[in-house]
Amino acid sequence: MKNIVIIGAGGFGREVKMLIDQINLVEKKFNLLGFYDDNISIGTQVNGYPVLGGVNDLMIYNNEISVVISIADPKIKFQIHKSLKINSNISFPTLIHPNVLIGTDSVLIGEGCIICASNIITVNISIGNFVILNLFCTTGHDTVIGDYCSFMPSVNISGEVVIEDLVYVGTGAKIINLLKIGNSTIIGAGAVVSKTLPEKCTAVGIPAKPIKFHE
Ligand SMILES: CC(C)(COP(=O)(O)OP(=O)(O)OC[C@H]1O[C@@H](n2cnc3c(N)ncnc32)[C@H](O)[C@@H]1OP(=O)(O)O)[C@@H](O)C(=O)NCCC(=O)NCCS
Repeated sequence: MKNIVIIGAGGFGREVKMLIDQINLVEKKFNLLGFYDDNISIGTQVNGYPVLGGVNDLMIYNNEISVVISIADPKIKFQIHKSLKINSNISFPTLIHPNVLIGTDSVLIGEGCIICASNIITVNISIGNFVILNLFCTTGHDTVIGDYCSFMPSVNISGEVVIEDLVYVGTGAKIINLLKIGNSTIIGAGAVVSKTLPEKCTAVGIPAKPIKFHE
């Protein structure tokens, strides 16, 4: 069993604890030590496990440890990974719920991903590093997803979609086929994306339209 800690002891972090419990029911893979969270005091108990410190404490962790970054905001995920990747004691496993349906034809999934219960990932798909696919998402054929993207529950990605790095997609959004979503773009809950979206915008509605741009 590998020792593992969860970064982020909020709602999603606690759901990731549940995901680890479900993986262990099938095969005892992980020994959960606790949470790391910059905003919760050391020693606080979270669903039976202690908060052990903040991200800075992990930067100097000197034993082998698996770390799962359970934070939906792509930019924060990116920053945390940037500060921890210099510590060679840390590995970033990809966690996949046992009931996830993944096609056997050319599906590539990077490191540090979190794939929650009831996802379906079909065929000829490439998923980058540190991608979160929250509950009940579907990812269709020939889709490419970049690094650090986060998809909230019940997002449907049709076929042949290209999603660049650091994209956040709100709950229930639908992305129709053959289009591209630019780097760091944010898509609102419930949006229907029917056309290619530029980078660094927030797009909402049906059809999804950019309402603002950010750095
Ligand atoms: C799109 C989103 C990121 C925008 O957040 P924001 O940058 O703080 O923007 P604001 O809340 O100031 O909203 C700006 C405008 O867009 C509208 N808007 C916000 N989200 C919207 C959405 N999902 N659909 C349609 N309109 C939306 C607001 O009503 C507001 O309109 P107004 O200017 O006419 O008042 C956010 O509303 C959203 O949908 N987040 C996803 C949440 C989610 O899925 N959580 C999952 C947790 S598991």
